[in-house]
Amino acid sequence: MIRDARVLRAGFVPQEVEHRDAEVNHLSSVLEPITNEEPTDTAIVTGPSGAGKTCISKFVTERLREEVLNVETTYVNCWRNYTRFRTLYQILDDLGATIDIHRQSTPHDELVDRLQQHDGPRTVVILDEVDQLEDPSLIYDLHSLPQFAIICIANKEEDLFSRVDDRLVSRLRSSEHVRMDKYHDEQLYDILSARSKRGLDEDVINDNQLYRIADAAAGDARLAIGILRTAAGKADRENHERITDDILLNAAEDARAQIKQTSLDSLTPHQRVVYDIVRDHGPVGPSEIHKRYSEEVDDPRTKRTVRAYLSKMTQYNLLEAEGTSRDREYAIVDQPSPTLAE
Ligand SMILES: Nc1ncnc2c1ncn2[C@@H]1O[C@H](COP(=O)(O)OP(=O)(O)OP(=O)(O)O)[C@@H](O)[C@H]1O
Ligand SMILES: [Mg+2]
Repeated sequence: MIRDARVLRAGFVPQEVEHRDAEVNHLSSVLEPITNEEPTDTAIVTGPSGAGKTCISKFVTERLREEVLNVETTYVNCWRNYTRFRTLYQILDDLGATIDIHRQSTPHDELVDRLQQHDGPRTVVILDEVDQLEDPSLIYDLHSLPQFAIICIANKEEDLFSRVDDRLVSRLRSSEHVRMDKYHDEQLYDILSARSKRGLDEDVINDNQLYRIADAAAGDARLAIGILRTAAGKADRENHERITDDILLNAAEDARAQIKQTSLDSLTPHQRVVYDIVRDHGPVGPSEIHKRYSEEVDDPRTKRTVRAYLSKMTQYNLLEAEGTSRDREYAIVDQPSPTLAE
């Protein structure tokens, strides 16, 4: 029943992407100069969760490596590596330049110097979830190194710009911006259809079922593929020959729960404190959240940073915001009811 489980995984980058030609071309053209060893503009890729930001960025850089010999790429998830040290370390590690760096004891600027001295091939650095960097000035440091091309991925441009200084904002404003929107149902159907053709045996799932998954995923390709994976996994475990409607019925709920758990696991310790405050006291406004948070942690971040946390958790459907920007309040999202009925 399952032909190739890899293509149903969340991080899989397909050989061909669906419906993002304009974005693929735009991003490719921004990176083009690197193939002639010329400096490139920084690219900013934004869009909601599941819009294909990570997938398209990796796809474009992979294709670039296919086409030219002297270009490398490196990928950092800045949420997982949210300190300046860890992000820089990741990049250097990927370049094979960390041999004598001892964690913590190496001053940060030394890491930037190390990058500056790097004289290997030109390298595209994908900074994914860059809005989660504790100290976004790191973007500025990388930006000024001509041997690197930078792709910054964030959900919202504002969340990135609100936390960097004017100098960096003006640089970023003049950079190339690739925006991605939620997918339409038809587009999600095509993405699902391509995946199921490669990942599943024939006739395991029918068109009507694929359309229903697309509909339930509401524009989010991550959720759509998650539903397909959950349903296929269950059908396989239970020795069905095909995905039944019964299996599909719970798959949306299960996939959402799984994604929610992954997002919760991604929260930094400070974000987790903020989430718990909202869970215990919501609906609650940002000022009160910040007050409670500051009482609870040793080294509280600014109000602005906490607002960025709240925005991020809202993007990832962990929290929901109500009200206008003035009197906004946050509450946790209760698991929505399944919407995969026939
Ligand atoms: N145009 C596309 N064609 C084929 N597959 C796609 C396309 N867009 C997204 N996908 C797939 O959908 C899933 C989600 O995409 P991706 O991880 O790139 O979303 P994202 O925008 O980075 O979301 P997040 O903000 O949550 O990280 C991935 O498995 C990816 O391979
Ligand atoms: Mg992503």
